[in-house]
Amino acid sequence: MNFQNILTTQEGKIATITINRPQKLNALNKATIEELHLAFKTLSQDKSVRAIILTGSETKAFVAGADISEFADFDVTQGSELARKGQELLFDFVENLPTPVIAAINGFALGGGLELAMAAHFRVASSNAKMGLPEVSLGVIPGYGGTQRLPKLIGKGKAMELIMTAGMLTADEALHYKLVNYVVPQEELLDFCSKLATKISGNSSTAIAAAIKAVNDGFKNDVNGFESEIESFGTCFGTADFKEGTQAFLEKRKPNF
Ligand code: COA
Repeated sequence: MNFQNILTTQEGKIATITINRPQKLNALNKATIEELHLAFKTLSQDKSVRAIILTGSETKAFVAGADISEFADFDVTQGSELARKGQELLFDFVENLPTPVIAAINGFALGGGLELAMAAHFRVASSNAKMGLPEVSLGVIPGYGGTQRLPKLIGKGKAMELIMTAGMLTADEALHYKLVNYVVPQEELLDFCSKLATKISGNSSTAIAAAIKAVNDGFKNDVNGFESEIESFGTCFGTADFKEGTQAFLEKRKPNF
């Protein structure tokens, strides 16, 4: 895939997407959001890809937010459109992707950067990472799902504080609040994520996709998560992976998914 603002690589069953605008601290402009959409869509349709690692180029930033220079003169309608389109194309899209996405937070994850990391299925941070939603310092609020996902991940009170103060959490604080699952030295970040992704890639991709859907459904107001789980559980019984997984167990061998 040929892109201007992102790089994609694949090693075995693991793909890595690197947001590559280091001179702008990997800020998300419109073109980058469109490229990310296309990359995630293409990789999720590729059966050889079992997990995706998302990171930022160089050592300073994962993503320092939406590109402020692009929306500074927007009006009310353009503002709503920016948030709606971004949520559809990227943030909701990533959260609902059937392929697991791990955010490898390699530095600043601010505003849209933290929102993107929160849309991933889980997060690992390097020890230099700093995370926050500083939008109110710009006279706006998080518009890419931040007001919804942050309280769900770290609880309402701390999310309110972080949003209102426009403050930043260190990597260790983010670990304490369960915003990230692990903190590792920066030079080990991608290897660490790759090991997690490899572990995931040995399991059934159809079952993982069903699990992602059931977990996500539990966080939706208009869907009964338990009903969704029952349905997805049943669907698994019709898959080749279920036959292989159960057969392999009974034959005392490793499954080949
Ligand atoms: N949008 C557009 N450009 C951005 C950006 C963003 N969100 N974040 C950083 N940049 C650009 C800077 O304008 C600068 O570009 P320039 O060299 O052409 O002037 C470049 O990236 C480097 O950033 P700089 O601010 O000089 O680095 P720093 O080390 O002094 O500060 C940050 C780092 C992350 C603290 C600071 O860049 C920042 O506060 N960024 C905005 C964070 C934000 O509010 N995000 C939410 C947006 S809704």
